[in-house]
Amino acid sequence: MSSLPYIVGNWKMNGTRAMLAEARAIDRATARLPGVQVALAPPFTLVHAMREAVESIGVGGQDCHVEASGAFTGDISAPMLADAGADFTIVGHSERRAMHGESDAVVRAKAEAALAAGLSVILCVGETEAERDSGQAEAVVGAQLDGSLPLGAEAAQRLSVAYEPVWAIGTGRVPSVDDVSAMHRSIRAKLTAIYGEAGAEVRILYGGSVKAENAAELLAADDVGGALVGGASLSAESFVAIIGAAAIAR
Ligand code: PGA
Repeated sequence: MSSLPYIVGNWKMNGTRAMLAEARAIDRATARLPGVQVALAPPFTLVHAMREAVESIGVGGQDCHVEASGAFTGDISAPMLADAGADFTIVGHSERRAMHGESDAVVRAKAEAALAAGLSVILCVGETEAERDSGQAEAVVGAQLDGSLPLGAEAAQRLSVAYEPVWAIGTGRVPSVDDVSAMHRSIRAKLTAIYGEAGAEVRILYGGSVKAENAAELLAADDVGGALVGGASLSAESFVAIIGAAAIAR
């Protein structure tokens, strides 16, 4: 694993070819900040074009199917993502878990399919507001990790975990630095319990309303190895400010 902070933009269902100009600007800024690893996960339709347009940043998918090919209308497989030039894919985002009914077992199968296709994986976990309010946040995230992390110590080498509290996504609300630190320590303990020494190397990203204004503080929390950024990754101006904060926090 690289020890550089890893700043990943998740464009969700946003972006047509006109937005490749933002990716190019992000790419140029990244080339000037070698102390940060940067990637974007555009919609599937832009993966190939973005890969061709950038040099210094990673490009990935936001999801993949568990199978490599077959009668799955509308789905995209991990080998297809790799063929389009993707380096990685996100799996288990809370929007997929909630709106597409993805279970932990499905998320694990997707992560394993992505790794088998040669991709790196960013696996997302996070509690709802009700779960946090009832004191269940660490237990819920621990259970998600138990159920969805890809199996086998070698999986850890191409894995990042993104802690994204559901209630912080797109809301402008973020947990306290103490709560982020506590959760990241708990995730680290789980990773080392599951993967042994290799679990110490997995980067743990924070995601949920990361902006230029709060990035430095969140990135300085215990064991935060980067950020998964939604809304603020859609323009070069706001995303490059976060990348800049990561470069300084380093
Ligand atoms: P947000 O999204 O930064 O817009 O809160 C984060 C995410 O869902 O990955």
